[in-house]
Amino acid sequence: MSGNVTSRIVASTASTRLAGKVASQLGVPCTTGATERFPDGELRPSLPDMQGDDVFVIGSTGPPVSDNLVELMLLIDASRRAGAARITAVVPYFGYARQDRRERVGDAVGARVMAHAVAGAGADHMVVVDAHTAALEAMFGIPVEMLSAVPTLAEALQGALSGGEVVVAPDLGALKLAEHYGTLLDLPVAVVRKTRISGTTVRAEELIGQVKGRRPVIVDDMISTGATIEAAIRVLEAQGAVPDIVVVATHGLLVGPARRRLKDPALRFLLVTDSTATAEHEGLPVSVRSIARLLAEAVSRLHDRRALDELTGTARTSI
Ligand code: R5P
Repeated sequence: MSGNVTSRIVASTASTRLAGKVASQLGVPCTTGATERFPDGELRPSLPDMQGDDVFVIGSTGPPVSDNLVELMLLIDASRRAGAARITAVVPYFGYARQDRRERVGDAVGARVMAHAVAGAGADHMVVVDAHTAALEAMFGIPVEMLSAVPTLAEALQGALSGGEVVVAPDLGALKLAEHYGTLLDLPVAVVRKTRISGTTVRAEELIGQVKGRRPVIVDDMISTGATIEAAIRVLEAQGAVPDIVVVATHGLLVGPARRRLKDPALRFLLVTDSTATAEHEGLPVSVRSIARLLAEAVSRLHDRRALDELTGTARTSI
């Protein structure tokens, strides 16, 4: 990285490993800070002096989402008070992004509230990876860079494909994402029509596209409880797809019943990134591809005021 201003990585508790990898790839200091937790649950991070530095706070907001969001905001504030010249919040997984509109009267639009809170804490710039909705950008009053882990994941998939695959979007919102994978892997695309019943249950009824006799590669931005993937697998089986399924998602949250739901003999493996530090992989055939290189490249270019171009990508469509 060039320039007279020093760049520095600040790592949240949730992203210590990933931030460490990014810092070592760039050869810049990584400050983990000391996040104290008070007996009543309050967090208080403390950072050293960083007068005039170009600071990149890396803080993913996977589970526990609200705690991780608060820590991110406090680290941004602490960086400002420690003298940072510019602060970029690098949020590999941005929680609350699914709350980008009201489902019914009386709902909050959580994504907007969190966007205002993060920007209000003092961030000058935001970087997110495969945000659930492109609408997130419009909710921030600061520039937002939407990185895509799709090329990283598609590259990791290349060697694992045995022929006759079809990329499957498990709902209409994932169609653009599926088309991106389809283009990179030179595969046809099919889509499942899904209806969400609640936070943990969905109904998948219909399938558009040809899957009979093909090996499905189901792609999504995130796996939370596994309901979406489980429902898509049932539809694919009913339509005569080969029971040799690969699931690819940027954010492998794998919470609640995910482990039970995804223990399916038809599932060859799940490919996710290290955007969140989930411990729920045990017992599942999960393969993790790091996004450290992607983040390091983005940090380097932002520090040097260079364009991100091909690092950015297609978010899901909000449906
Ligand atoms: C849909 O809105 C998202 O992109 C994912 O499909 C969904 O959030 C995954 O959640 P779950 O695993 O609980 O179905």
